[in-house]
Amino acid sequence: MSSLSVKHLLGIEPLTREDIELIFRTADEFKEVINRPIKKVPSLRDITVANLFFENSTRTRLSFELAEKRLSADVVNFSASSSSVKKGETLIDTVNNILAMKIDMVVMRHPDPGAALFLSENVNTIIVNAGDGTHEHPTQALLDAYSIRERLDEDFTDRRVAIIGDILHSRVALSNIHCLLKLGAEVQVCGPPTLIPKHIESMGVSISYSLEETLMWADVVNMLRIQLERQGDGNVVKYFPSLREYSMKYGLTAEKLAGAGKPLVVMHPGPINRGVEVTSEVADSNQAIILDQVENGVAVRMAVLYLLASQIERN
Ligand code: CP
Repeated sequence: MSSLSVKHLLGIEPLTREDIELIFRTADEFKEVINRPIKKVPSLRDITVANLFFENSTRTRLSFELAEKRLSADVVNFSASSSSVKKGETLIDTVNNILAMKIDMVVMRHPDPGAALFLSENVNTIIVNAGDGTHEHPTQALLDAYSIRERLDEDFTDRRVAIIGDILHSRVALSNIHCLLKLGAEVQVCGPPTLIPKHIESMGVSISYSLEETLMWADVVNMLRIQLERQGDGNVVKYFPSLREYSMKYGLTAEKLAGAGKPLVVMHPGPINRGVEVTSEVADSNQAIILDQVENGVAVRMAVLYLLASQIERN
């Protein structure tokens, strides 16, 4: 197979296992490119990509922009905080005005779940979802799985991946669950009962409320950020008594990691709240692949953009 089964990347749920494996094989080639002295290829020359960020981002935004530039695309950036959205313009009007400037692809982060799907149904361009509210963050899941594949030598069968923390508000968790299950891994979610969505086991994952038990079970642990900004007004703790109590029960320390009695791989999608989800000692240890995830994000996003752009007719 040399092309994706989808026109847009709206989430991991619509992808097949073959799509994901094609993205990984393509990312392998781009990873080689970005480690050369000349890191650029002409694959997206004459293609223009607009990065529309209606919500804050450091990693995803920079990573997409770098991926586009490494592929020789023309790039325009849009940030909601400095745009006419503030003057009441709708999402469709904003994007149609941008498309009138001859844009071929749109990468969009938006606070509303379903925003990427809505856009794909209402404007005529290729959409890449860079995170839509609490719904999906497909390129994060792809780079996470790609980083696990790199560390654990390709095969996901019988690999056990635990996703730990704020599952309820996490688009990273949902996309990771879809991605890892499609690849054949076993997935467990772990966290306080208030942060585990009801009925999540119907997706095919197991549930644990004990970090220590999960560490014994897993080969890989993905430590999610506590998303205070999605817990209600004023960034206040609402789902557990205090951040201190959360970190005592669910924060990963070097002692708890050693208690697993095996060399677990530690991941975090970022941004990290050091001392809450993981201590600095763990985040900066050899077991953590957090910066590998960031590095792989560029190659994976290059692969996604390249494969989706192959549908664009170019004379
Ligand atoms: N992991 C992630 O999505 O980070 P940003 O919010 O900084 O893009």
